[in-house]
Amino acid sequence: QWTTASIVDETVAAIREHVGDRRAICALSGGVDSAVAAALVHRAIGDQLTCVFVDHGLLRSGERAQVERDFVAATGVRLVTVDAVDRFLGALAGVTDPEEKRKIIGREFIRVFEQAARDLQAEAGAAGEHIDFLVQGTLYPDVVESGGGSGAANIKSHHNVGGLPEDLQFQLVEPLRALFKDEVRRVGLELGLPETIVHRQPFPGPGLGIRIIGEVTADRLATLRAADSIAREELTAAGLDRDIWQCPVVLLADVRSVGVQGDGRTYGHPVVLRPVSSEDAMTADWTRLPYDVLERISTRITNEVAEVNRVTLDVTSKPPGTIEWE
Ligand code: XMP
Repeated sequence: QWTTASIVDETVAAIREHVGDRRAICALSGGVDSAVAAALVHRAIGDQLTCVFVDHGLLRSGERAQVERDFVAATGVRLVTVDAVDRFLGALAGVTDPEEKRKIIGREFIRVFEQAARDLQAEAGAAGEHIDFLVQGTLYPDVVESGGGSGAANIKSHHNVGGLPEDLQFQLVEPLRALFKDEVRRVGLELGLPETIVHRQPFPGPGLGIRIIGEVTADRLATLRAADSIAREELTAAGLDRDIWQCPVVLLADVRSVGVQGDGRTYGHPVVLRPVSSEDAMTADWTRLPYDVLERISTRITNEVAEVNRVTLDVTSKPPGTIEWE
């Protein structure tokens, strides 16, 4: 009988045995999987692990603090944050095509992470050490999907990471390779991670960059962040977080409509609420949110976010709509 505690103990022992006294790095995304993977490895090897968090400026309100403050407080992990906001915004300037945005964000992310890894490598080198391992939060369903199904071990050794340059070759440590998402959450709780991290809803790697329809700019990000934060606050206050899969808020930055507020005419942007219910994100249904919750979100967003004068609701299932708009 596998208890969560025994999964933790066995995995920690296996990591300790495998990594020994060598060093590892891990990119934290703010999501559940990388956080739990890092926490497990940290439990096994302590300060031989360094985590890297890239702030690409496409995060939601409070997400950087959740990693820098809450995750570090819960684990004591060594964390390096790279502030790459200007770099990402520069690379995204003038870009409106969704696939183009995704490619740029992915490419810049790898470049920034590579540079951080090189810097850490140099630092370790100065102390006569070398970073040998890269920690990844790969789950069992990812393993099956990529054809590595049978006999999933806790650690897949001696695999160099595709795409990284010659001077940055790591072996992978994938402590979640045998686990499903619900087990990962239980392991996270067992390790003392906060609920806000363990039960976080899915959030795409390209972040708010693919929730602004049109060019991504600092002002538009600030607008979307404010609207998103209100929607999340109200959904949480209504106790709905566990009932919905996620609720993207999308800014139609190239659309304007006429409105009226106080004595004046407004000409602002619409946002779209996209609440969905799903088991695995492959298919999804639009969530029938209570009208009073929708009303509070709408009233607050139009009152508190100056650029937004209209709130709309996406009532499309997946298929035919995807969950994200881009
Ligand atoms: P779609 O829009 O394809 O989204 O219906 C399905 C689920 O995947 C999330 N998503 C992503 N997650 N990187 C990620 O890590 C991505 O590029 C990405 N794109 C979409 C989306 O939020 C939803 O949960």
